[in-house]
Formats: sequence, C-alpha cells, structure tokens
Amino acid sequence: MAKRVHCLVLAYPSQGHINPILQFSKLLEHEGVKITLVTTLHYLKNLQKIPTSIALETISDGYDEGKDEEAMKNFKVYIERFWQVGPQTLGNLIEKLGRVGYPIDCVIYDSFFPWALDVAKKYGIVGAVYLTQNMIVNSIYYNFHLGNIQVPLIEHEISLPMLPTLQHKDMPSFFFDKDPTILEFVVAQFCNIEKADWILCNSFYELEKEITDWSRNIWPKLRTIGPSIPSMFLDKRLKDDEEYGVSQFTSEECMQWLDDKPKGCVVYISFGSLAVFDEEQTQEIAYGLKDSGSYYLWVVRASEETKLPKDFEKKTEKGFVVTWCSQLKVLAHESVGCFVTHCGWNSTLETLSIGVPTISVPYWSDQNTNAKCFSDVWKMGIRATIDDKNIVRREVLKDCIKEVMESERGKEMKNNAMHWKIMAAKAVGDGGSSHENIKEFVESFV
Ligand code: UDX
Repeated sequence: MAKRVHCLVLAYPSQGHINPILQFSKLLEHEGVKITLVTTLHYLKNLQKIPTSIALETISDGYDEGKDEEAMKNFKVYIERFWQVGPQTLGNLIEKLGRVGYPIDCVIYDSFFPWALDVAKKYGIVGAVYLTQNMIVNSIYYNFHLGNIQVPLIEHEISLPMLPTLQHKDMPSFFFDKDPTILEFVVAQFCNIEKADWILCNSFYELEKEITDWSRNIWPKLRTIGPSIPSMFLDKRLKDDEEYGVSQFTSEECMQWLDDKPKGCVVYISFGSLAVFDEEQTQEIAYGLKDSGSYYLWVVRASEETKLPKDFEKKTEKGFVVTWCSQLKVLAHESVGCFVTHCGWNSTLETLSIGVPTISVPYWSDQNTNAKCFSDVWKMGIRATIDDKNIVRREVLKDCIKEVMESERGKEMKNNAMHWKIMAAKAVGDGGSSHENIKEFVESFV
C-alpha cells in the first residue's frame, strides 16, 4: 500500500485561526492525508474537541506554563519571544516525528508564522502557507508590503488593482494604529510568500474571482480551498461531521428557544471571540434590539456581561442573551432571518455559506473590509452607520433591522445570500473549484 502523505499543520493559537485550519485538515484527511495538528503547549487546554484520527503535538511560544500573563497580553513582547523559540521547537518536532517513523512531507502553516517556511526548507520539506483571511484583505496588506500604500493614509479613496475603491472606513483597522506593531506583524505574512510551495487561501474562487485571478499571476501557487467550515453545513461530504476545534459550550437551551419562533423572524447577534465594545455601545445595542420589536438571540461573552443595562432581562419571549452558542447551528436554524455581525472572516464565511443576510458592525482588523464586501460586492447586507463617537446608536440598529427583515431591499439581500450559499456548497462539492484545488494539492505528493 502506498505510504500516506503526512502533513504537519501549524495553527496560530486563537479561535478564529485554529477552527478553519482544522476544518481544512479534516478535508485533507478525507482525501487520504495523515494530519498532525500543532499548537502551543499553553493553548492546548482550549482544544476540547479534536477528531481522534488527528494527532496532536505542541511547540513552544516561550510561555509554556502560561504564567507570565502580563507579557502574554503585550502583543509585541509575546510575538518577539514566540519568534525566538518557535522555529527551534518546530525543528525539534519535525526531527522527533522522523525518528519515531512518522516523517513529515509538508508543513502547512498559518500565514502568521512566516518563519515556518524557513524551517520546512531547512529540512527539505514542502512548505504550504494557509491564509486565514480573504483575498481582498490579503491583497491590501500585500500592496502595503510592496510600498503601494503609505501610512498615514492621506488620500480619501484607495484604488488598488482588481479591488473596489476603498474609503478609510473600508480599510483594515491596523492602518490607523499609532503604534505600527500589529500592522508590521500582519504585513510580515507576505515577507517570503513568493517562496512558499503552495499558497492556500480560506476563500472560494467564485466569491473573489477577479482578485484571485490577478493574484495568481504573481503567486502561481495560490489556490482557494474554502470555505473551511464543517461540511455538515455545506456539501455534507464528511460523515458524522462536527464543529471540532475551540468550543466554549453549546447551549441546547438556545436551540429550544429558537424552535418556538416563526420562520425567518429572529435576529442573531454576535461579535466573535475577541471584540470588546464599551459599555455605551453595548447599551445602545441592547436598547436597539429591544426597540426593534424583533425576536433576537444575542451572544454576550461572560467577560462582557457587566456592560449590559442593569435592568436588562436576559430571557424574555422576544429576546435571549447567551454567553456562547453553536453559531453555525444557530445560523442554520430556520427561525433566523438576519445576522448582526462584527464581520470576522469566519463569521462572514459561515453566514454566506448558510444564506443569512447581515448587518455589519465591524470592530477592528479585517472586519471593515469584510463589511464593505457584504454591502457593495456581495450585496447581502448593510453596514450600520456610526456617529462621531464611533457608536452605532439604537435608532440606527433598529432601522437596519427593519430594512433587512422587512423591506424589498432586504428581500434582495436574502436572495443574494442564498446565491452565495449555493456557490459555497458548489465550490467544496465534487468537481467544485475548492475541491479540485484540494485534490491538486494532495495529488502533488503522489
Ligand atoms: C478573529 C478576528 O477578529 C477576525 O477579524 C479574523 O477574520 C479571524 O480571527 P473572531 O473575532 O473570533 O476572529 O471572529 P470570527 O472570525 O468570526 O470567528 C469567530 C468564530 O467563533 C466563528 O467560527 C463562530 O462560529 C464562532 N462562534 C462565535 C461560536 O461558535 N459561538 C458564538 O457564540 C460566537
């Protein structure tokens, strides 16, 4: 029997990065590849659900005990230490797996770890970079890397090849940071990308055709392989597929609450695993939801709950506030008619793969750009406007909900969302663009 190809999959230790790369790993496994997933020792405890067929290993970020919390919260300090110790421990792991009879054929690494390519090359192993974010955002950062964008941004409109004209509000938030640390970090993803053997992007061709075609002229090894979400919500390719990865908990109670509600009438609202809105914004959202008169299911993480208005009831006939839920199951529930989202890339792919129109309330990072795409490119959502204090006011949220849930334009958004749902399932289904790309990648090792 032919030897199975063995890929070491190096995931960046955060929920928004680990979940999609793990979903991608499951598809590779389905194509016959052996997978070893690697994360940091201290992040391991967050991984509650991993398929038993996927081996798990760790490298060090320099904070194995997780004790030095102050240093870990300081992004610059954390990353510098990680970059010092990570490559050595990745090399040690590759050597160890070779010694015990599981040599590595390919390192698939999150693009936040450009140094992993050097480690792969040192051992003569194929290096495949996995871009967690979409092609439009990657292209903006790459243009900055090439010197085609200067900070501070002076022009009101930014024109880049094959991208819609971008205003400041559409640009990734890091372009406006006083401290350049994070912008430098995200742009470093592209420092050696031309040398990667494969560039795999968690998007799909039909969603970002023009920019993907254009980018392939520069990066011939670019392939779109997404959406990396569980196949039970797409083409059902994998049997007994589940939402593996980082899961806080799944609230059966919230699914039951949804069961009683009329079809397409519930507003689902969640801002992912990282966004931290201030008290004023949280309270405006609370009253906006209440004033809209709609049913709503709102995820307010435990760390954010104290910002809710004091008299705000968490469970009523109209509304339910939970600290976490199974977002994919909620979006797929027939009572859900609209998603108020921060536009993290995973939430973005999830809602368009399930066909739920959106109201964008971007918080930071790539989310401004994803919000732009929802309203002006994919035309399946609207963006809530902010006032001069950067706050989405209750009346604005209420009007947005009415527009998406009740207006003719809202119906068009729903139709467009359903179009993207069909395209996403086609992309990962048999003969679809992403599926073909995944097969090409796997067959390159034979
Ligand atoms: C981060 C960045 O903020 C985002 O901009 C980037 O594109 C990816 O990494 P995060 O903010 O957590 O991610 O947002 P998102 O990418 O949307 O990921 C959140 C994940 O948590 C989604 O897969 C979502 O389904 C899941 N989730 C969220 C739940 O399962 N339950 C919840 O209650 C809320």
